[in-house]
Amino acid sequence: MCGIVGYVGYREAHPIIIESLKRLEYRGYDSCGIAALGDKLVALKDVGRVVDFEKNSPRLHGKMGIGHTRWATHGAVTAANAHPHLDCNGKFAVVHNGIIENFQKLREVLEKEGHHFNSDTDTEVIAHLIEKYYQGDLVEAVSKALADITGTYAVVVTAEGHNELIAGRRESPLVLGVGDKENFIASDVAAILDYTDRAIYLEDGDTCIVTEDTIEISNNNQKINRETHVIPWSVEDAQKAGYEHFMLKEIHEQPKTIENTLRGHTTSERPVTLFGIEKEQRLEDVTLIACGTSYHAGLIGEYMLGKLCKVPTRVKIASEFDPSCMALDRTLIIGITQSGETTDTLRAIKHAKTLGCPTIGITNVQGSSVTRIADQILYTQSGPEIGVAATKTFLAQLTALYLLALSSAPLDVKNYESYMTKLKTLPQKVQRVLDDEQTIAKHGQQLAKYENAFFVGRGISYPVAMEGALKLKEISYIHAEAYAAGEIKHGPFALLRSNTPVIAIAPKDHTYDAILTSIKEIKARGPEVIALAQEDDDEIEQFVDVVIRIPEIDPLFSPFLNTVALQLLAYYAAKERGCEIDLPVNLAKSVTVP
Ligand code: AGP
Repeated sequence: MCGIVGYVGYREAHPIIIESLKRLEYRGYDSCGIAALGDKLVALKDVGRVVDFEKNSPRLHGKMGIGHTRWATHGAVTAANAHPHLDCNGKFAVVHNGIIENFQKLREVLEKEGHHFNSDTDTEVIAHLIEKYYQGDLVEAVSKALADITGTYAVVVTAEGHNELIAGRRESPLVLGVGDKENFIASDVAAILDYTDRAIYLEDGDTCIVTEDTIEISNNNQKINRETHVIPWSVEDAQKAGYEHFMLKEIHEQPKTIENTLRGHTTSERPVTLFGIEKEQRLEDVTLIACGTSYHAGLIGEYMLGKLCKVPTRVKIASEFDPSCMALDRTLIIGITQSGETTDTLRAIKHAKTLGCPTIGITNVQGSSVTRIADQILYTQSGPEIGVAATKTFLAQLTALYLLALSSAPLDVKNYESYMTKLKTLPQKVQRVLDDEQTIAKHGQQLAKYENAFFVGRGISYPVAMEGALKLKEISYIHAEAYAAGEIKHGPFALLRSNTPVIAIAPKDHTYDAILTSIKEIKARGPEVIALAQEDDDEIEQFVDVVIRIPEIDPLFSPFLNTVALQLLAYYAAKERGCEIDLPVNLAKSVTVP
């Protein structure tokens, strides 16, 4: 997820683009850049935040320009990989938000045709394609370039010798800001609200020509009119896309997060197996290392690797990782850290490396410390997660772990394909849970009146219960504990009262009868029981107080859906209690101290 802007009008472009980029840094902030068209096209870019770029780079002149603030997906965090990207002769400048799936093939063809590349990004192919197709008509060249691309894009192009900006979108958002003798293009309205409240939202397949006086939109070569909306939001509202908190916005981004993390891995061939290492080193087992929510992802990963690959797997809390207790020379170490900066996890990976273990990092942040420590990196594609409580990065970690497991599972093509199909249908199943938000919100508001709560689950649902308890306690400050459902009778039963609600996760898998037994035992001791149960479960209702319905799904994928329901439950409990949800007390987004 990146932020892109374009400006054309009566004013100098540079300051407007810089300020607009600052409004978009919640979309990405590892590097940034700007191109302005005065007499000539000049582009500047660097790693780091926009405010530092503004301080350290000269002011460009010109009344038209484009800008970009990056969240790296392809290509490390370097100045060369920052946008804008130019063609061979520096006549065309492009900023892009999205993922180009066929960029390698396009790059090979372009290089054979004599184009030379300066970056490792997918985006740069767009600039060279425009150069390839340009014969005086910029719109035509841009349209041909975009037609060659598979994947997603929101793109803005400026070119020497032209006084118009060209923009287009496919699955990545792009909005036009309508001004007086000036017009704006941006990833979302947060970037334009300082200048205008009139916005035109582009649709997939739209391309547009924008000058200081005119906006011309077409789709499938047909000129079209799009409605101009008046935006009643503050800039901060816009950065949250109208949601009250970043956390709620990020909960709702999860279908897209899964899609983006899968993108490029859902071809019929197996994804590049990261277990390739095992062949060389005859690995015998896997150790997953992580903290907090990422540790819970590791616990679910343990099930997947066990179930799909029959690989002996253990999961270690990073701060408890003690290599002296393990025979490590035959184990693959996988460090899971969305920030890529958690000190405990980094230390554990480094230590394992010194013992000769091959290491893989699963992270959401290009250029983070873990990318310079682990031998291989598997990136999740969540975009920046602003809320301190991890939500979309957790589901992205699960997606990455399923991909990792499937890449090495001894499955025939038919079985492999069926698992990939289940993965690809997850976004719409997650969306169905999100569509039930108001029902879940009601139960979350009820939960808010308690000071203690228990979460129980069995099998793959036990780590989901742990994640649900962590979400509730870290944003609502309700004391919440998770237990393996079969374990709660070994002591914690003593705490069960009518004022200690129990949230029970009960998918229709092999543990269903046992979890039902646990629920009856718990209910008999007084607590209110809230069950997360499948839509087709017509038995559980008689044993519990509340049923939150979850779409039917292969149990191995149930953590995705149950987690989203628990995130919403925690969010609405915290909201009801008036908590500062995006910045919980005592917490930091990444824990860079041991
Ligand atoms: C999750 O909601 C918490 N913010 C915290 O437990 C977090 O998951 C943990 O600190 C690990 O962070 P990482 O994934 O960046 O390593």
